[in-house]
Amino acid sequence: MIELTELRKQISQVKEDLSRRVPTLSNLDALEAFRIEFLGRKGRIGDLFKLLGQIDPSEKATAGKLLNELKQDATTIFATRQEELSSAALNEQIARERVDLTLPGVYHPIGHKHLLTQVQQEIESIFLRMGFDVAAGPEIEDEYHNFEALNIPADHPARDDWDTFYIDDTTLLRPHTSPVQIRVMEQTEPPVRIICPGRCYRRDTQDATHSPVFHQVELLWIEEGLSLANLKYLLEAFIHEFFGEGYEMRLSGDFFPFTEPSVQVHMRAPGAKDWLEIMGAGMVNPAVLTNVGYDPDKVTGLAFGLGIERMAMLRYGIDDIRLFCGNDLRFITQF
Ligand code: FA5
Repeated sequence: MIELTELRKQISQVKEDLSRRVPTLSNLDALEAFRIEFLGRKGRIGDLFKLLGQIDPSEKATAGKLLNELKQDATTIFATRQEELSSAALNEQIARERVDLTLPGVYHPIGHKHLLTQVQQEIESIFLRMGFDVAAGPEIEDEYHNFEALNIPADHPARDDWDTFYIDDTTLLRPHTSPVQIRVMEQTEPPVRIICPGRCYRRDTQDATHSPVFHQVELLWIEEGLSLANLKYLLEAFIHEFFGEGYEMRLSGDFFPFTEPSVQVHMRAPGAKDWLEIMGAGMVNPAVLTNVGYDPDKVTGLAFGLGIERMAMLRYGIDDIRLFCGNDLRFITQF
C-alpha cells in the first residue's frame, strides 16, 4: 500500500523537475529526449500511474485525478517549450538568411559591338539602301570557286597572291570574298545585285596595314549595259555616304584575272599625305560570266572587294591594323 500523501509528494517532485528544467532546454532534440523521460511509455509519469494499484480504493479517484492533472500539465509544459524553440529557430533562420538590399549590387558591364562589326553593318546598310542584297559563302573554299571559276588556272602567276592556307590538296581558307560571286551566280539568273561581307585569310606578313586574317566586303552587280562609269559613280556615292566630305578617292589601273579592265582604289583622309589602298575593282571578265553559264554578249558585270579594316583605319585615323584584334580595352571602348 502507498499513502496518498506519498503520491502527492512524488507528483510535486515531478512537477518541480519539469518546471525547473524544461525552460532551460535549448533545442528541440534535447526537449524530445526529456519529454520521453517523463511522458514516454516507461517514463516517470507512467511509473506514477503504475502506483495507482497500491492506493487505498477510497483514495483512488483523487489519486487518479491528480495524476491526470500532472500528465495534462506536463503535456502543456512541453508543448509550450516546443513552440518557443520552434519559433526561435525560425527567427534565427530568417536572421541568418536575410538579404541586405542596401548592399551595392554586382556590376556586370555591358559590352558593345566591335568597331569592325559596326563598320561592316554600316557598309551593309548603305548598300541595302541602294538595292543590294547581303549574301554569304564558306570560309573554307574549294579551288574551283576560289581560282578556276574566277579565271585563275593552276599555272597562272596571279595564283601566287592568293595561294594560302590549304586544308587539303583542293580546299583552302579563302583569301578573298570573290568566290562568293561565283556561288551566287551559279544559283541566280541575272540581274544580280549582292554584297558579301566576310573573313579572309592570307599568308601576308603582319605589318601596320596587313593582317593574316582580315575582312572584306565583296560587291557584284550583273545587268545589261553596265560600264566603268557605273562603277565609278557607285564608288563615289558609297564613299561619300560612308566618309562624308573631304576624303579623296583615286583609281589606278590594276590587274585581276576576273575583271577586265581592273582598277585599284586608293583613299586619302583630309589633310593626310599618304594614300591607302582600300579595294580592288573592275568590270567582270566575260570568261567568268561564261564559267557560270551567263551569256557575256547579253550581260555585263561590275565588282569590287574592299578591306573593312582599311575603311575603319581611314575613317577613325587608326594607324595600325593590329589594334583591331589586340584586345586592348583602351582601344576597343573608344568606339
Ligand atoms: C582582292 O582580294 C580581289 N578579290 C578584289 C576584287 C574583287 C577585285 C572583285 C576585282 C573585283 P586585293 O588582294 O587587292 O584584291 O584585296 C582587296 C582589299 O582587301 C585590299 O585593297 C585591302 O583593303 C584588303 N586586304 C588585302 N589583303 C589584306 C591584308 N592582309 N590585311 C588587311 N587587308 C587586306
